[in-house]
Amino acid sequence: MVHREKILNLTSCLRRSPPIIMTTSITRAIVTGHTRGVGAALAEQLLSRDIAVLGLSRSRNTALAQRFPQTLEEIELDLADPSRVAQWLAGDALRHFVDGAHSVLLLNNAGTVQPVGPIETQDAGAIASAVGLNVATPLMLASAVAKASVTASDRRIAHISSGAARNAYPGWSIYCATKAALDHHARAVVLDANRALRICSVAPGVIDTDMQAEIRGSGKEHFPLRERFEELKRNGQLSSPEACATQLIDFVLSDAFGEVPVADIRELTQRS
Ligand SMILES: NC(=O)c1ccc[n+]([C@@H]2O[C@H](COP(=O)([O-])OP(=O)(O)OC[C@H]3O[C@@H](n4cnc5c(N)ncnc54)[C@H](OP(=O)(O)O)[C@@H]3O)[C@@H](O)[C@H]2O)c1
Repeated sequence: MVHREKILNLTSCLRRSPPIIMTTSITRAIVTGHTRGVGAALAEQLLSRDIAVLGLSRSRNTALAQRFPQTLEEIELDLADPSRVAQWLAGDALRHFVDGAHSVLLLNNAGTVQPVGPIETQDAGAIASAVGLNVATPLMLASAVAKASVTASDRRIAHISSGAARNAYPGWSIYCATKAALDHHARAVVLDANRALRICSVAPGVIDTDMQAEIRGSGKEHFPLRERFEELKRNGQLSSPEACATQLIDFVLSDAFGEVPVADIRELTQRS
């Protein structure tokens, strides 16, 4: 009941209030996984709103770099390898990027659904990579961004979570566990007396990306729910990355962001 009331308050707030971060103030965003899918759409839309983006992925987004040569910075980094991430964080690229910004956004978007399958089929290295990419790196970046943005008067961290954080699915034990870790991280962070910091772990819906193609390509013996995802695609029930990114950005920039530590973008938009 309390939860429902909170969601209703949050959605009416989303309806009422324009984004409280005005793009006239200096806003900068760090987006992981900015080369494809939801992350590419997030980066594109932030840049289109005059928000400079630092994109972290294993490769570069050349189309976006051509369109926004002044405001897109890219770092090629394997975010599944926490020791490489720690090494990068020991340098001062992040501090330089956020220096002078009034508002700093971190969108922890990069993630993997692999390894898919029951526990006995999972490769140890793939488990370590998934925990690195889905949990260790987002938590390391969250802490590093908070430390680096000492002069910003507004810091916002969005973990891109999943419905799998809140419901268990066969074949997805690693994905479910890692996404649930992001949710619980957000719940605990809000209990600290952090200065000017909002955080929320947001499930983005089901989106037509490479990850969905990968899910539909899973062996049925590894992922018994495959047909459900094939059906969603067949029936045109997947969101586009662009529509999803618009909802996410509107939410992250809104006054309602951070009122609850865990949210589902579908619940917010259904009620508004
Ligand atoms: N698609 C859905 O239906 C859905 C549903 C719920 C939640 N989500 C979540 O939404 C987020 C985005 O999903 P998506 O569907 O857009 O994924 P996607 O299409 O697979 O794209 C993943 C992005 O992450 C980057 N990435 C992957 N592995 C990386 C690594 N080791 N190091 C650095 N970057 C890496 C990729 O870039 P490079 O390959 O260039 O490195 C790419 O830009 C994920 O956290 C996912 O769990 C998605």
